[in-house]
Amino acid sequence: MHNLEAKMDIMETIKKRASVRSYLQKPVEENKLSRFKELMERLGEGPFGNPVRFKILNLESLDQKEMRSLGTYGVIKGARCFLAGVVKEGAGCMEDLGYCMEHLVLEATSMELGTCWLGGTFRRSNFARQAALSSDELLPAIVAVGHPADKDTFANRFMKVTAGSHKRKPWEAVFYSSDGKTPLGENQAEGYATALEAVRLAPSALNRQPWRVVKGKEHRYHFYLNESFIYNRTMGKIHLQNLDMGIAMCHFSLAAHREGLYGSWEQDKEAPRLKGLQYTATWVPV
Ligand SMILES: Cc1cc2nc3c(=O)[nH]c(=O)nc-3n(C[C@H](O)[C@H](O)[C@H](O)COP(=O)(O)O)c2cc1C
Repeated sequence: MHNLEAKMDIMETIKKRASVRSYLQKPVEENKLSRFKELMERLGEGPFGNPVRFKILNLESLDQKEMRSLGTYGVIKGARCFLAGVVKEGAGCMEDLGYCMEHLVLEATSMELGTCWLGGTFRRSNFARQAALSSDELLPAIVAVGHPADKDTFANRFMKVTAGSHKRKPWEAVFYSSDGKTPLGENQAEGYATALEAVRLAPSALNRQPWRVVKGKEHRYHFYLNESFIYNRTMGKIHLQNLDMGIAMCHFSLAAHREGLYGSWEQDKEAPRLKGLQYTATWVPV
């Protein structure tokens, strides 16, 4: 991750990121847009191999009518720029989009820009038109990007309170030892404590934090989704909690790399089957 690693420690960036819902009118600078474009070109596909593409929707370049059509239902104030994330339909496509798009979010954070993932509160069809979506593609989410306004708006405070944004589940509620039941202590994660902490701080839809991670043999980490079925299945092919899984995987890999730990994401037949949890993927060290 070129700029992220060069400019700012990844954990610092992860800790700094928080959803911003109120922006200054000031446009995002050209050099920052160029950095997005450069990174977008390199984010060709996610760990499941589905091709992703991104479009910068810079409202400065849209006419008034187009601009008005891109609604965010009053949740986002003043944003001049959105990143639209598009993925080709396929197994693991939500995870792939979440994984790649979170790279862009962290890149934005490292450039002192505010961001907010939007999976629900935006007019999907109008953004889809702007992103020239084809019939085999999905637009699961957009990200608002811009200069944070100094003052928090009521809408942001409201969303933060309703989503309980500042809160994260404790380690013992999300990370487990190999039996899938015994909580994993920070001191048992060895070199991976930072990578797991990066998962815990990840953003998630409604701040539900649906990821569960089980430590396997030889520093393998098995990722599972604790799905809120009713919530995750209300938008047809768009499954926001599967995006959350990709975001968590992105945080894990970036933080692991920073610690000099390399690996790949694989489907591990030996990953334990756990009641009520859907297996997503396993981090396998190289
Ligand atoms: C996949 C996804 C979809 C989201 N959709 C929305 C949304 O539609 N509207 C909104 O205001 N916030 C949305 N959020 C932001 C979350 O509410 C926020 O990340 C969470 O409450 C944690 O707060 P934080 O980002 O400040 O750490 C979404 C986040 C994710 C990861």
